[in-house]
Amino acid sequence: MDQLRFDGRVAVVTGAGGGLGKAYALLLGSRGAKVVVNDLGGARDGVGKSNFADAVVKEIKDKGGIAVADYNNVVEGEKIIKTALDNFGRIDILINNAGILRDKSFTKMSDQDWDLIHLVHLKGAFKTTHAAWETFRKQKYGRIIMTSSNAGIFGNFGQANYSAAKMGLVGLTNTLAIEGAKYNIKVNTIVPTAASRLTEDILPPEMFEAMKPELIAPVVAYMVHESFPETGTVIDSTLGYATKMHYVRGPGVVLKKKPSDPVTIESVKELWPEVVNMNNAIRLDKMAEVTVDLVEKIQDFEERSKLDGNGKSYWTSFSYDSKD
Ligand code: NAI
Repeated sequence: MDQLRFDGRVAVVTGAGGGLGKAYALLLGSRGAKVVVNDLGGARDGVGKSNFADAVVKEIKDKGGIAVADYNNVVEGEKIIKTALDNFGRIDILINNAGILRDKSFTKMSDQDWDLIHLVHLKGAFKTTHAAWETFRKQKYGRIIMTSSNAGIFGNFGQANYSAAKMGLVGLTNTLAIEGAKYNIKVNTIVPTAASRLTEDILPPEMFEAMKPELIAPVVAYMVHESFPETGTVIDSTLGYATKMHYVRGPGVVLKKKPSDPVTIESVKELWPEVVNMNNAIRLDKMAEVTVDLVEKIQDFEERSKLDGNGKSYWTSFSYDSKD
């Protein structure tokens, strides 16, 4: 296969002074992208500021690449996008990667622990993406990555703030994938697990050694390449392994025996095993598909019961129109 390259493309990688972001920036820089290496340079809990990004820019340049450092906070994402436009005149790729931790058991979690995590992860990704969006729409091209976490998807003790923000990024991906589709803006989520300062006291030492960020960088780089076909996809990657994740929906049940019955707490209890039954679960990709699936099930229920007499259904037609 020909080498996948990024010549002529401008990439912004947030939080690229270390860890995963650094690996992404170095790989994109080595494949011809002009890279904005953003990093506020704070501590793991978000406190402080320094110039981590400089060393990464130097490394890219030493290898013949083109890069510029940016020390802005992602909460002022428009300034980071301005750095790309001022220095390189365009932006094609945005990797929202910056992140911090403020782990506490829920009892001890303060407003500040909650707010700061949401500011950096969720508001930060909103700000950078919002600032780049108009350019992406006008040029009919954009590649965006959000960074989620298994802590969000499955939950993790002590990470209520982080889990909520990380799952919020999946929701953001889902909607932006829909809104960006007709402008060739592809928005996808990476769920990484890698050795970094965020995981040095969480991962067992032998795993920490093996879980190199460089093993995830090719996955993310492909996901921001012009040839990447998908949008709205969540990819879990670690240790040189990658897989897609998505929700499935069980067959479910109408919560009564016949159409004229009321839905009661008792009928819900009685039918609960069928509510939670995931045999024959199916994958639905769009909200409209969920509605169609529901309508079909209710119509099927009415049809099978044949008790509604007038042959009419409440469930006639549903449509979700793009308002853009
Ligand atoms: P890291 O701490 O090495 O890198 C994060 C970088 O973001 C740091 O260099 C930090 O200075 C920068 N940063 C933090 N707040 C910022 C702000 N407000 N503005 C600009 N830059 C800021 O950690 P790592 O592991 O490389 O994390 C990268 C992303 O991956 C994060 O979003 C993290 O939540 C996520 N993640 C990492 C996992 C792992 O196993 N390492 C697991 C799941 C998610």
